[in-house]
Amino acid sequence: MNMDKTFLCRCEDVTLEEFRDAYDEGFSELESLKRYTGVGTGFCQGKGCLSEAAQELAALRDTPPGEIRLTTIRPPAEPMTFAQLAALDVPPPGGDPEEAP
Ligand code: FES
Repeated sequence: MNMDKTFLCRCEDVTLEEFRDAYDEGFSELESLKRYTGVGTGFCQGKGCLSEAAQELAALRDTPPGEIRLTTIRPPAEPMTFAQLAALDVPPPGGDPEEAP
């Protein structure tokens, strides 16, 4: 099977070949592979690819998938629209002006 155009991360167009090349260049942790290739940084925040990336990394290392350290999850944990973000009740930077003395 030709792996040249097999996409590992469809959101960021990261191919399996690019992921493997990055590993061969010395990026041996999932976090560094994420930062270098962009895998897992797209709209779905890795829901469509990080599990597969971890499995691929385990295969490259010849270790069980459970030994792969997963990447740091940062909020929002779920994709949000700008309208949802704008509707949040967040105090302005520097505090709430209504509570100021
Ligand atoms: S498929 Fe990789 S971030 Fe969505």
